[in-house]
Amino acid sequence: MSIHIELFSLYTCFNSLGGDYLNKTILDTEKLYYGFPIFILGYKDDRWGYNFTTSSSSYTLDNFLNVGLSNQGNASKQIKKHGYFTLNIPTKDYLEQIKIGGFNSGADKFNFSNSFQYDLSDKMDVPIIKECVITLECKVSQIIEEDSIVHIFSTIERRLVNSKLIKDNHLDNNLLNPVLYLGDGNKRSFKFLSSE
Ligand SMILES: Cc1cc2nc3c(=O)[nH]c(=O)nc-3n(C[C@H](O)[C@H](O)[C@H](O)COP(=O)(O)O)c2cc1C
Repeated sequence: MSIHIELFSLYTCFNSLGGDYLNKTILDTEKLYYGFPIFILGYKDDRWGYNFTTSSSSYTLDNFLNVGLSNQGNASKQIKKHGYFTLNIPTKDYLEQIKIGGFNSGADKFNFSNSFQYDLSDKMDVPIIKECVITLECKVSQIIEEDSIVHIFSTIERRLVNSKLIKDNHLDNNLLNPVLYLGDGNKRSFKFLSSE
């Protein structure tokens, strides 16, 4: 039933383009994000103890997870040094906290008022963001730097999922609603999979 509803909403979305799918124009922009789930990286921080950063550049295949970070940020420096991090998935209820992570480079972000809260992992020295519905505990395996980007290759050591999202020992896909980040060099915005 729910699959039919999802397919229907995709259909109406495509239809809003008026069926003119073949007509493309060159868009001169320095970036084009076509919808990436926002995540919160949690990490050990030499200066503040533990810290977090908002990101959207990632992919995962099986047990491997790669993220892309600016070499100017605090997160890339700390994760490079300590070798472990968590990738946490927030929902739309935490836009204020997502912005704290995304606009205060190098600050003690867990100490902002209304900020995310965390527990320490019992597996590695990293913070687990309490409010996020999924946490992946990751170990860095390789780092490649290219221009100003730090590509962090990692292995997923453990997956923690809010028990409300698990049904019969499986992830309930219908209940997982990450926040998507999309747009071009002119403007980027958040989008939600579901209004519920
Ligand atoms: C929605 C969103 C997505 C972002 N994605 C990335 C990203 O993928 N990589 C990155 O390096 N910075 C990204 N940023 C920018 C960093 O979050 C921002 O520069 C932050 O201040 C870095 O903090 P830090 O220096 O304390 O690590 C993103 C910001 C926002 C708001």
